[in-house]
Amino acid sequence: MSISRKVEEGVIASSWAVRMFEDQSKTSQVKEICDFRLGNPEIEPPAGFTETLKAVVQNSSPGMHRYTPLAGYTETREAVARALSKESGLPFHTKHIIMTAGATGALNIIFKAILNPGEEVIILAPHFVEYPYYIDNHGGVCTVVETNSDFTINIDTLAAKITPNTRAILINNPNNPSGQVYTGENIKAVAELLSEKSQKFGRDIFLISDEAYKFITYDNVTLPNISKIYPNTFIAASYSKQLSIPGERIGYAAANPGIKDIHEVIEALTFANRILGYLSAPALMQRVITHLQETSIDITEYTERRNIFCNALEDFGYSFTRPKGTYYIFPKSPTDDLVFTQELAKEGILVNPGRNFRRKGYFRIAFCVKKETIEKSLQGFKRVKDRFRSAE
Ligand SMILES: Cc1ncc(COP(=O)(O)O)c(C=O)c1O
Repeated sequence: MSISRKVEEGVIASSWAVRMFEDQSKTSQVKEICDFRLGNPEIEPPAGFTETLKAVVQNSSPGMHRYTPLAGYTETREAVARALSKESGLPFHTKHIIMTAGATGALNIIFKAILNPGEEVIILAPHFVEYPYYIDNHGGVCTVVETNSDFTINIDTLAAKITPNTRAILINNPNNPSGQVYTGENIKAVAELLSEKSQKFGRDIFLISDEAYKFITYDNVTLPNISKIYPNTFIAASYSKQLSIPGERIGYAAANPGIKDIHEVIEALTFANRILGYLSAPALMQRVITHLQETSIDITEYTERRNIFCNALEDFGYSFTRPKGTYYIFPKSPTDDLVFTQELAKEGILVNPGRNFRRKGYFRIAFCVKKETIEKSLQGFKRVKDRFRSAE
């Protein structure tokens, strides 16, 4: 075997998922497929993005395609720091921000910077599929903690899993796949627990917040500001969803000014950005997003899609918590989630089984698709639900 055993395991696990999707498509008798599997938004970026991109290209200056400084352009980092200071009231400065290739790049440099081999990072199930791989990339060990039935953080369950070897807790707020948004109270309880455990074990436990969906919340729900609540925080942020530009690979890592040894931490993040192979975030995108800190896609487009889907699923008798954020719905599966997703596939409807996110008995719908796709799929969702009604 020419490849490593660990990578081989990953490839086999991923190909299982790909094979299943292919099988799902084949089992469908329907010509038209309604695909709700991917979080790759079909909504176009806002006009402000396109205009700024054009202006940056038209005003090009010599050297603008060279390597950027490792942590990113100063003016870009300044713009991000200004926005974070305004939100939190904390003294974020240029130095606290490292521009990265999306939230993914940010998470990887954070783990690289803080993890010693074998140290644990706690993640909350159901979770984004890639987290265990990112933790493993940097020698960490992933500990999975279950959340409550409404996907909020259960403090007792979390407390029971923190050990002297725990380096960090990773949260994702708003949450993929559940659509839940943790409240300030929930985060405060986590912060109190981490302070208590940090004191007990004599070392700081970090709270890392993946805020890839920060700009996608509904019904006036606001995201708690974790930097204000707990000093030992990192934010992994992204413009992928905010501006609907995931292919452009731009985001940042922000280190809380209150972290002990902040200077070493920033040096470590910058070093990690260099050695992980990204080198620095894309130069053109850094220049563009400098001007777009408060610009985002029109949230009413997602609100409308969420409402159409949720109202219909409620009528059909599906059981779920209406998402407060993201563009995912995570209903209970009326039967085994693999069986159910395969039944939906026969109707030409493709969704992800909950087990892909480590929560069996659920399935995930990504509604970042055209409205017509949602409308076309609804009767199929109804028919499959009706088929399993007697099983419940
Ligand atoms: C929870 C979560 N974090 C991070 C990412 C990756 O974001 P980025 O494109 O910024 O790397 C995704 C992408 O879907 C995600 O769902």
